[in-house]
Amino acid sequence: MADPLRLGIAGLGTVGAGVVKIVRQKANLLGARAGREVVITAVSARSKSKDRGVNLSSYAWEDDPVALARRDDVDVFVELMGGEDGPAKAATEAAIKSGKDVVTANKAMLAMHGQALAELAEANNKVIRFEAAVAGGIPVIKALTEGLAGNSIDRVMGVMNGSCNYILTRMESAGLTYEEVFAEADGLGYLEADPQLDVGGIDAAHKLAILSSIAFGTQVDFAGIKLKGIETVTIEDIRHAGDMGYKIKLLGSAQMTARGLEQSMTPCLVPATSPLGQLDGGTNMIVLEGDHVGQIVLRGAGAGEGPTASAVMSDVMDIARDIRLPTFGQPAATLEKPATAKTALAAPYYLRMELLDKPGALAKVATALGEAGISIDRMRQYDHPGENAPVLIVTHATTSDMLDQALAALPATKVVTGTPVSFQIKKV
Ligand code: NAP
Ligand code: HSE
Repeated sequence: MADPLRLGIAGLGTVGAGVVKIVRQKANLLGARAGREVVITAVSARSKSKDRGVNLSSYAWEDDPVALARRDDVDVFVELMGGEDGPAKAATEAAIKSGKDVVTANKAMLAMHGQALAELAEANNKVIRFEAAVAGGIPVIKALTEGLAGNSIDRVMGVMNGSCNYILTRMESAGLTYEEVFAEADGLGYLEADPQLDVGGIDAAHKLAILSSIAFGTQVDFAGIKLKGIETVTIEDIRHAGDMGYKIKLLGSAQMTARGLEQSMTPCLVPATSPLGQLDGGTNMIVLEGDHVGQIVLRGAGAGEGPTASAVMSDVMDIARDIRLPTFGQPAATLEKPATAKTALAAPYYLRMELLDKPGALAKVATALGEAGISIDRMRQYDHPGENAPVLIVTHATTSDMLDQALAALPATKVVTGTPVSFQIKKV
C-alpha cells in the first residue's frame, strides 16, 4: 500500500468539523477506495478550546494556519477558513510554495485570485481543488472538468445560493415581505455573517465566476458579472409573476457570445413548470448545456456540514488516487482574458408598472415601448381600488439597451406613476 495521505486542516467550523468527521468515521472506506490511508496530522482554528463535537486530541495543533501549511508532516493543505484575502490566501500560497497540494471550499478567494493561485500552483507542480466552493455537495466542478470535457459548453445557469432561494420561496409560500423573511432567515442562522454576501448576490456571483472560467476556458472574471441582489424583490412581483406562469429566482447565467462573455447574477423569471422554477427552499440547481450532451441538470444541497464536507472529500480522494488536473480544467497559461459582452443577448422581459386609469394611458405606454423597438407579447391589468392601475407586460425578446431606452421614455408619458419594475425572463 502507498504511504498515507496526510491532511492539515485549517478551519474547524461547519465544514472543517464535517471533514474531520468523515475522515474519522470512514477511514476503512476511504482507504479501500484510494488504495492508501487518508489521515489528519494537524489542524488549526482561532480557538483551541472550543468544543467542535469531534475528538481532535490526536492531531497536532497550530495557532497559525501558515505554520500548518508549511509543516513537513502535511501533504495536502485543506483550507476551510474562508475570506478572499487574509489568512486563507496567505496560507494557501505558503502551502503551494512549500510543496503541498491544496483543497479549499473558498469561492471568494478563487473568484478574486483564482488565476494567480492557479499559476502559482502550476509553477510549483501542485494542484488546487475546490469542488466544495460551488454548490456545496453538487459535484459540478467534476461534471464540467471531467464528465463534459469533450463538449463545448454553450451555457451555464443556475440557482447557486440556498439562502436567497429559501427567502424567495418562503416569501411566496407564507405571503411574507422580503424584510420579514430576511429577519426570519437571519434568526435561523441561514445567512452568512455578512448577509450582504448572500442577498446581494455576491456569494452566488463568486460561484458563477468560477464555473464560467472552467466552462469557457477563460480567466476568472468576477468584475465582469452583471450583479443584482434580491433585496428589491417584492411579494407583489412574486405573486404577479406567478399569475403569468413564472417564479422569481436569483439566477446565474454565463454564455459566450459573439460580443464576448455574458455573465449575470440577477433576479430573473423562469417558467414555473421548469426544473429551476420548481426548486424550493435552500436547495441549489445547476444547468449545464454542452454541444454534444445537450442539457444536464444537477440538483442538491448547496451548503451545510455534510454536503460541503462530502465535496471536500471528493477532492481529497482525487489527490489520494493521484488524479491531478489543472485548476480550471486546462493549464492556467492557456486561459484567455475574457472580453465582457457590453450588451446582453436579447431576451423577453416582465415589466410591472402603475398607470393612471384614464383614456389613452395604455396606448401611451405601448407607444413608448414600440418606439424603442419593443414588441408586447402579453399584458394584464388588475382590479384596483384607487386611480392607479397595476399593469403587467411580458415583452417579446428585446435587448437590455432597448429596454433601458423604453424605461427612460416612460416618465414623459405622464401616465406612469412610481418606478416601473423589470425582470429578465430566462428560457430554460
Ligand atoms: P465557519 O463555520 O465560520 O468556520 C471557519 C473556521 O475557520 C473556524 O473554525 C475558525 O476558527 C477558522 N478561522 C477563521 N479565521 C482563522 C484564522 N485566522 N486562523 C485560523 N483559523 C481561522 O465557516 P464554514 O461555514 O465552515 O466555511 C468555511 C469555508 O467553506 C468558507 O470558505 C465558506 O465560504 C466555504 N463554504 C461553506 C459552506 C457552508 O455550508 N458552511 C458551503 C460551501 C462553502 P474558530 O472556530 O476558532 O473561530
Ligand atoms: N450562503 C451560502 C448559501 C452558503 O446560502 O448558499 C454556501 O455557499
